[in-house]
Amino acid sequence: MALWGQRARSALRLWGPGGGRRCISNSVSASGIFGSRGSSEKKFSLQDVAELIRTRACQRVVVMVGAGISTPSGIPDFRSPGSGLYSNLLQYDIPYPEAIFELEYFFHNPKPFFTLAKQLYPGNYQPNITHYFFRLLHDKGLLLRLYTQNIDGLERVSGIPVSKLVEAHGTFASATCTICRRSFPEKDLWADVMMDRVPCCPVCTGIVKPDIVFFGEPLPERFLLHLLDFPMADLLLILGTSLEVEPFASLSEAVRASVPRLLINRDLVGPFAWRPRSRDVIQLGDVVQNVERLVELLGWTEELQDLVQRETGKLYV
Ligand code: OAD
Ligand code: ZN
Repeated sequence: MALWGQRARSALRLWGPGGGRRCISNSVSASGIFGSRGSSEKKFSLQDVAELIRTRACQRVVVMVGAGISTPSGIPDFRSPGSGLYSNLLQYDIPYPEAIFELEYFFHNPKPFFTLAKQLYPGNYQPNITHYFFRLLHDKGLLLRLYTQNIDGLERVSGIPVSKLVEAHGTFASATCTICRRSFPEKDLWADVMMDRVPCCPVCTGIVKPDIVFFGEPLPERFLLHLLDFPMADLLLILGTSLEVEPFASLSEAVRASVPRLLINRDLVGPFAWRPRSRDVIQLGDVVQNVERLVELLGWTEELQDLVQRETGKLYV
């Protein structure tokens, strides 16, 4: 399973709006829209999702996230026009957007990737309410697994144990020599990365690359957990992702057809647009506002505030 950027984008072009499949209009209110079904059938709502969680009717919640959950923490996403990393190539001095995650370009010029690495190294950013909501799901024994495409490590910082995470596009927590394949902990690279030096292997002098998955590279072995998790899931939450990169994007269709799927995102994306299901709930808009709404419906607001205060020492308002 290699990271599959380009193919996913062309698949979306083929099947996306105007591609002949049923597609929901983008001009919907943030109060939610629903998949294709007969008008007589009761629409599934955010309230229904909250009820399933609150009453523990669903206890095997799988979560899929992308860069949109970390923009409230101050980290730009990739594809948002203007603010996304791929619109700001000058800052990283790369010739085209995906170069920053391409091995061929990395060996030609590793500096842009390490500029990004320096920014994302632990300590620069803090989790937001979205990360802590997932932590609360875990604390309540409801989180089966959180699949993240993010490489900012904020899920770990929020206190979710690594056993509950699948960091599908890798992590800065470890690194590997590109020549002799020796493994190094993050702390061994820290000084070099902070001093804008490209870290080199003390044994063979090869470049040491943090274990971030580049295009064409295999995903971490833990990604295979999806084969167990998705058939078992009884609720799927998808937040802050364009669902443009495979094989991650296709997981959104890997839960059973009867399993409710909730999308919280600024844009209508992936199969929610071109192959909606009857129990889909779509909340378009800001991730924090929508998570707060869900948390309120769950009656967890105070508990979440307490958790954030405990973890950060800060009062969340
Ligand atoms: P994208 O930048 O492709 O998508 C982020 C999505 O989040 C977009 O649909 C945004 O509209 C939405 N979004 C951003 N901020 C939001 C907010 N505050 N509230 C609600 N929605 C918001 O990021 P990913 O889907 O994560 O690969 O991108 C997937 C992969 O592409 C990344 O993992 C990266 C990149 O190549 C690697 O890092 C290897
Ligand atoms: Zn080496």
